[in-house]
Amino acid sequence: MWVKAIRIHELGGPEVLSWEEVEIGDPNEGEIRIKNKAIGANYVDIYYRTGLHRTPLPFIPGTDFSKEAVGVVSAVGPGVTSFKVGDVVGYADDPMGSYAEEQIIPASVAIPIPPAIDYKTAASVLLKGMTAYVLLRQAFKVNRGHTVLVHSAAGGVGSLLCQWAKALGATVIGTVSTEEKAAQATQDGCQHVIVYTKEDFVTRVAEITSGEGVHVVYDAVGKDTFQGSLACLMPRGCMISYGQSSGNRPDPVQLSGLAPKSLILGRPGLMHYTTNRDELLQAAGEVFTNVMSGVLQVRVNHVYLLSEAARAHKDLEDRRTSGSIVLVPDSQRL
Ligand SMILES: NC(=O)c1ccc[n+]([C@@H]2O[C@H](COP(=O)([O-])OP(=O)(O)OC[C@H]3O[C@@H](n4cnc5c(N)ncnc54)[C@H](OP(=O)(O)O)[C@@H]3O)[C@@H](O)[C@H]2O)c1
Repeated sequence: MWVKAIRIHELGGPEVLSWEEVEIGDPNEGEIRIKNKAIGANYVDIYYRTGLHRTPLPFIPGTDFSKEAVGVVSAVGPGVTSFKVGDVVGYADDPMGSYAEEQIIPASVAIPIPPAIDYKTAASVLLKGMTAYVLLRQAFKVNRGHTVLVHSAAGGVGSLLCQWAKALGATVIGTVSTEEKAAQATQDGCQHVIVYTKEDFVTRVAEITSGEGVHVVYDAVGKDTFQGSLACLMPRGCMISYGQSSGNRPDPVQLSGLAPKSLILGRPGLMHYTTNRDELLQAAGEVFTNVMSGVLQVRVNHVYLLSEAARAHKDLEDRRTSGSIVLVPDSQRL
């Protein structure tokens, strides 16, 4: 079976994203085929495209680099009893290759999507929402009374982090690059917003917290913010580094830099918190519950045709986006 898909044959800029016909075949034992309705575009896709994250090593031309979509089961392989043709499912992990009209995945990674959540919303919140769950509920447990600093607060993960942290009872300070993004971050529950392209965020956090600092920083910006984030923490505070949109953090990190305030540093990844089906469904379940109860307002701010994935990547890299980005297969554009 042939489908249209985005492939890369070399590492590089958005221009290496190529719109092609690829053969995907039929599902084998334990696999299902999904007709994708909405595909999540994530900053991590850029890390794979550019080679910042490499999978597999060494890079093999034509290898996929995308990992999130929602669609309808179009075929089931031998031995699959948990899903049937017509079921609506999502996935947000390996195997890579979700920038495609159809994809074959192991049934074990498919997540049933509640009927109340539409395709685009689900593809906007599955990977990013489960990441927020890991960050706020597992890596550091945010509670009432905590003060939390969220960088890139108007981004896909950032928007969800702010809303969820506020709902957990935290005081949320967000950083953003523009006034427009600041307005969104305020709507998403930030009591204080810092435009870190204009103001020194370390100075502002000290002012806002009367010099005490914050309990936890969620930092996916990396190079530009890492040291400043450590400076914003109170003694025994926790630095959660979960991405690097501005470039790699200073690696190796000087452990001696943590000692003066007994800081804790973590670098969590979603995949290590969803290692089995129970953990995966627990994470997705908390996200869906929060979406359906209104705790999380999912911002589907940008929709592109799948064939326009390069434009989506360019806009994401150029910091022109906020909230989530969804790619819709060209054949599904109705
Ligand atoms: N650890 C995990 O398991 C995991 C899982 C999912 C995502 N992530 C990470 O979470 C982060 C957010 O992902 P997302 O898909 O939701 O993306 P996003 O936050 O919507 O987009 C990235 C944002 O980073 C900010 N940024 C700061 N400096 C930048 C620079 N030099 N170049 C580009 N952007 C810059 C921009 O916000 P401003 O314009 O406001 O600065 C930009 O909008 C990424 O770093 C991603 O790798 C980690």
